[in-house]
Amino acid sequence: MSPSSTLYLAAFAAFLSTVNGQVLLPGSCANHSVVQNFSVGDYLGAWYEIQNTYADNQIGGICTIANYSDFGNGTVRVYNTQVNAETGELQSALGSARPLDPTKNEAKLLVNFPFMGPMESPYWVLDTDYTGYSIVWSCRPGPDNNSYQTYWFLSRTRNPSDITRGYVQGFLTALKFDLSYLEETTQTDCPN
Ligand SMILES: *[C@@H]1O[C@H](CO)[C@@H](O)[C@H](O)[C@H]1NC(C)=O
Ligand SMILES: *[C@@H]1O[C@H](CO)[C@@H](O)[C@H](O)[C@H]1NC(C)=O
Ligand SMILES: *[C@@H]1O[C@H](CO)[C@@H](O)[C@H](O)[C@H]1NC(C)=O
Ligand SMILES: *[C@@H]1O[C@H](CO)[C@@H](O)[C@H](O)[C@H]1NC(C)=O
Ligand SMILES: *[C@@H]1O[C@H](CO)[C@@H](O)[C@H](O)[C@H]1NC(C)=O
Repeated sequence: MSPSSTLYLAAFAAFLSTVNGQVLLPGSCANHSVVQNFSVGDYLGAWYEIQNTYADNQIGGICTIANYSDFGNGTVRVYNTQVNAETGELQSALGSARPLDPTKNEAKLLVNFPFMGPMESPYWVLDTDYTGYSIVWSCRPGPDNNSYQTYWFLSRTRNPSDITRGYVQGFLTALKFDLSYLEETTQTDCPN
């Protein structure tokens, strides 16, 4: 693999892992509460990315799917696929997620993609009903007390209802997330 394609893959695979889609926002990470009594088992399976934060320099991906399964050793297998919006190429990345604190049943996970090195990115589930939608947030300290943030609206279907969309929008607005950073992920005419 050439260095440039390695970089390219890295830029993609970071999705759902903070670097791709990450925006630098004013202020430090808020103290949002996450889903308690989190059922990893009910959370497994495929989630379609409906919206995420989008940085200007980001390589565009469409048809983005995160597919979670059980590694059987206390970690979750993370298998992401997407189509490169410019080339049409189907891309995938394999990683894993572990609970930040295995003694707590709270929805704070750390995601790692091995080829990116040891870096683990927060994956906080702020709200989910397991069968319809999930609202995920990742935040890390940035320069000058600001923060690098990514947030996602994931759905069990490619085409969530207007009611679900409205709910997610309302939830994020109530927590003062800036919706203007969210972009719609195309989920039509997808090969995956
Ligand atoms: C964050 O919120 C929780 C309750 O939701 C509270 O127990 C905790 O002290 C807060 N932490 C900070 C740093 O404000
Ligand atoms: C936690 O979830 C389990 C099922 O996953 C349920 O049986 C239990 O009552 C829940 N506990 C609390 C405190 O919500
Ligand atoms: C998700 O992965 C499972 C296997 O773990 C597979 O059966 C399923 O088709 C995948 N779903 C999607 C939408 O890719
Ligand atoms: C869990 O299993 C996966 C797949 O076999 C492996 O790659 C990973 O290193 C294991 N993690 C731990 C913490 O054992
Ligand atoms: C960051 O926050 C700390 C604690 O509130 C403060 O002392 C410091 O001056 C801040 N730094 C900047 C660059 O704003």
